[in-house]
Amino acid sequence: MKNVLEINHPLIQHKLALLRDKHTEPKEFRELVEELSMLLAYEVFRNLPSMEVEVETPLARTTVRMVNGKKIALFPILRAGLVMANGILRLIPNALVGHLGIYRDSETLSPVPYYYKLPEHLDEKESIVLDPMLATGGSATYAVKVLKEQGARNIKFVCIIAAPEGVNTLFQAHPDVLVYTASVDQYLNSHGYIVPGLGDAGDRLFGTK
Ligand code: PRP
Ligand code: URA
Repeated sequence: MKNVLEINHPLIQHKLALLRDKHTEPKEFRELVEELSMLLAYEVFRNLPSMEVEVETPLARTTVRMVNGKKIALFPILRAGLVMANGILRLIPNALVGHLGIYRDSETLSPVPYYYKLPEHLDEKESIVLDPMLATGGSATYAVKVLKEQGARNIKFVCIIAAPEGVNTLFQAHPDVLVYTASVDQYLNSHGYIVPGLGDAGDRLFGTK
C-alpha cells in the first residue's frame, strides 16, 4: 500500500497497546489519543516549511527557524477526531480548525454528513484530516472530497488504526492523500469494525454507548 505510512516507534506502539485494552477507561483513553496524536504529528509535520527569524539569546543575536501555525488547518471528523485535534493543538496552538460532522450509518456503513464549519483559503493551507479510525474508508473519502471541493490541495489523513480496506478505498478515490497511522490492522468484521482494533472510538472516548 503506497499511500500509507505506519509509524512503528516503540512509544507509539506502547500507547496503542494501552488504548486497545478494553479495560482502559475514557479519561485515560482520551489522554492516550491526545498523546498518540502528538507523537504521530512528529512524522506528519516532518517536512513542514519553516521560516528564518531573528532572536536574541542571553548571549547573542542569532537566526532560528520557526513554523507558521496559521498555514496549517486541522480537520477533525466529529466526534472522535476532536480529541486528536486537541493533542495536535498543544504542539501547534495557532493551527486553524475546521469541523467536519460526519457519522456512518450503522446499517449501510455509508457516511452521513450533518455539519461543516471550515476556515477560508484552503488552497494556501496544509490540510490534516483527523479521525482515530479508518474502517471502510467511507467517512475519510467523503471528508477529503468536501475539502477538495472547498479548494484544499495539500491533504494528509491521520488516524490511529487503519483497516486495509479503508486504506484501499481512500487510495482509489484520492491517491494523492497519504495516510499516517500507528497501525494497519488485520481486517474489517461483518459489522464494519476493525479487528483487532479498539472497539468504537467515539463511545470509548466519551463514555457513550
Ligand atoms: C467512527 C470513526 C470514523 C468512522 C470510521 O465514527 O470515528 O469517523 O466511524 O468508519 P468508516 O471508515 O467506515 O467510515 P462514527 O461514525 O461511529 O461517529 P461517532 O464517533 O460520531 O459516533
Ligand atoms: N469506527 C470505530 O469507532 N471503530 C471501528 O472499529 C470502526 C469504525
